[in-house]
Amino acid sequence: MGLRVGVVLASDHGYSGTTGQLVTELLDRLQAGTTVEVDTVLTTDLELGSSCPACLRCMTDGEQACPNFDRAAAARRVMDDADLVIFATPVHSFQVSASMKRFIDHFAYLIHRPAYVGRPAVLISSAAGGGHDAALEYLRSAVRRWGFHTVGQLGANGPGLARPGYRAKVDAALDELAPLALAAPNQPEPKPTTADLIGFRVAKILVDSGREDGPVDAKYWDERGWFDAEWWTDQKPPFVANRIAGLVEKKIRKGINEGSADPYRG
Ligand SMILES: Cc1cc2nc3c(=O)[nH]c(=O)nc-3n(C[C@H](O)[C@H](O)[C@H](O)COP(=O)(O)O)c2cc1C
Repeated sequence: MGLRVGVVLASDHGYSGTTGQLVTELLDRLQAGTTVEVDTVLTTDLELGSSCPACLRCMTDGEQACPNFDRAAAARRVMDDADLVIFATPVHSFQVSASMKRFIDHFAYLIHRPAYVGRPAVLISSAAGGGHDAALEYLRSAVRRWGFHTVGQLGANGPGLARPGYRAKVDAALDELAPLALAAPNQPEPKPTTADLIGFRVAKILVDSGREDGPVDAKYWDERGWFDAEWWTDQKPPFVANRIAGLVEKKIRKGINEGSADPYRG
């Protein structure tokens, strides 16, 4: 059976740029292992505007209420239909590209209504020399909140690719990444981490407290029984991690209810 891969590529240079080149090199390896159908979203083609209109209607009235809904619908379909999604970005000023950030902001409602639980993702970044750590960590945590679990990632420097030693290391990393990506859709979701479990509880607080603004988020959680759950799936969360998450949830609720939370000062 083949693999359906969705690619979200957030580079102005599309597949001709360095980020696109790395994605192509990974896809070539996947194609050597199975039949692969690839659907790509170039985030720079989406015409979502310079920033999210911040009306929050996606959360209160549903994603169809977003003024950009139609323009992003094809991108949503690419993720919906994929067995695996590759998110790829150049590093811009030590972060994801503005186009990737814009894409992530458009889908902020997925933080409240995660739609990709159990779906694997692979992350790719390219840079001149550095910033992969912050960019990929941000990307990993952003798509985690939508449900995706990252099975592998690679950040590589464009100029280094011309040097045989570095090129060989990038090739070896791609060779390692490909079988992980190929196997991922048939493997169970990994156990949630403490951060995952805290993320679930924070989303629960957000959705619960937003009931009066609109019924859409809460209905989504009610339908899935998530208000009474400790995790998105029936999988039993690891005991200690879950206890820690429970304590953090209590502290956050107390902070909100009593106004005892401290402003962030680093
Ligand atoms: C606005 C801008 C900011 C950048 N910031 C960084 C950076 O923080 N670190 C870095 O190593 N390279 C940085 N670069 C270089 C790109 O990450 C690098 O050239 C990348 O491989 C380009 O990928 P692309 O061909 O897919 O666009 C920056 C480039 C641009 C245009």
